[in-house]
Amino acid sequence: MEGRVELVALDQQNVKQLRRLNTVLFPFPFGEQYYQEPETLAELARLAMVDGKHYAGAVRCSLDSQSDVLYIMSLGVLAPFRDLGIGSSLLSHALAYAAKCGVASVQLHVWTQNADAAAWYRSRGFREVLVVEHYYRKLDPHSAILMRKDL
Ligand SMILES: CC(C)(COP(=O)(O)OP(=O)(O)OC[C@H]1O[C@@H](n2cnc3c(N)ncnc32)[C@H](O)[C@@H]1OP(=O)(O)O)[C@@H](O)C(=O)NCCC(=O)NCCS
Repeated sequence: MEGRVELVALDQQNVKQLRRLNTVLFPFPFGEQYYQEPETLAELARLAMVDGKHYAGAVRCSLDSQSDVLYIMSLGVLAPFRDLGIGSSLLSHALAYAAKCGVASVQLHVWTQNADAAAWYRSRGFREVLVVEHYYRKLDPHSAILMRKDL
């Protein structure tokens, strides 16, 4: 599939597209706080839009300046739009914003059963820091790998 990909900021109108994407992409829900005041997120979130009409994926981060970390809460691309570089573009956006903020690292959790995602991040310079045994209450197993890329 050839298409023009744009990364767009979140707002009150398109935040429902993020909800839709997450329902398909992740086997667990995000709390209401995750979706609140989308316009204040600025560079912490981006939707990937293909040909100005298809919402294909998204990244949503949080910034903890006290612990010097940009945390990726979710990053996903719908299956029909994978292997086109969209996930890499979303990750590049998060990494560039982290560098701009001057944080020391970018971190995220990957479900231990999601070997493909862990490999995807590994090939992009992330390393596995530790396994958290009780991270995903709603998944079985509950464990997650904490992955980190130092900047
Ligand atoms: C992991 C995930 C985000 C990757 O998204 P994606 O859009 O397919 O990612 P990319 O297209 O950038 O990379 C996928 C492959 O396509 C290749 N690729 C990159 N750019 C490409 C391009 N322009 N054309 C063709 N192929 C390309 C890459 O080489 C990559 O292969 P690699 O992993 O061996 O390096 C996606 O599979 C996903 O959403 N998975 C489910 C949700 C999830 O597990 N998220 C992670 C936890 S937060």
